[in-house]
Amino acid sequence: MSGIFISFEGPDGAGKTTALKTLMPLLQAKTDQEIVLSREPGGSSISEKIRKIILDIHDEEMDPRTEALLYAAARRQHLIDVILPTLQANKIMLSDRFVDSSIAYQGGGREIGMKEVADINDFAIDGHLPDLTIYFDVSPEVGLSRIRKDHEGAMDRLEREAIDFHNRVYDSYMKIVKANPDRIKTINAEQAPEKVVADALDAIIKRFPNIFNKGE
Ligand code: TYD
Repeated sequence: MSGIFISFEGPDGAGKTTALKTLMPLLQAKTDQEIVLSREPGGSSISEKIRKIILDIHDEEMDPRTEALLYAAARRQHLIDVILPTLQANKIMLSDRFVDSSIAYQGGGREIGMKEVADINDFAIDGHLPDLTIYFDVSPEVGLSRIRKDHEGAMDRLEREAIDFHNRVYDSYMKIVKANPDRIKTINAEQAPEKVVADALDAIIKRFPNIFNKGE
């Protein structure tokens, strides 16, 4: 396996999805290796079907463990269909969310337990952790206020959850970041969007200077 695998994490409203769109061409300009961008839940045709079930606004009584298992199942299929083939082809894989999202949202947010959710995900990912994770740090208050401003009336099921759910997600992310100092790099996502992108770009280039060295 010779490609590299980078995941992007953060609470709702961190702006990572928008930042990734800007970041992707900037990163591509720095390397000859092809970059593939994907997202979770989803990222492959079976995984996108599972995504629809999970995020359906009408599924209000979904059991938390059912939800956690569906995320893990979608992740497994995404890994098999997209992530591993991309890495085997010596390409660079960027994933908008990966296993840390489940540990923070289902483990912490839904209170299943971080360890319990990490365990079912270990089964799903079978040791394939990202080489680098960029964590977009935004407080629950700022994150939620951004979501409300962006698409009022069109929030999905998880985004409708109470502020204490988001606080638990945030606290869990903090624990994950603390426990994985080598893998996870934190970016201040409360800054101006251009600065967030610049910091993420910088962190990635610094971590893989031999890969992102074009135009120097
Ligand atoms: P999405 O619309 O893709 O949001 P974002 O742009 O913020 O990533 O929806 C993803 C939602 O699913 C988000 O609220 C986080 C949640 N989620 C989990 O709860 N567990 C997971 O394992 C993943 C991947 C996402």
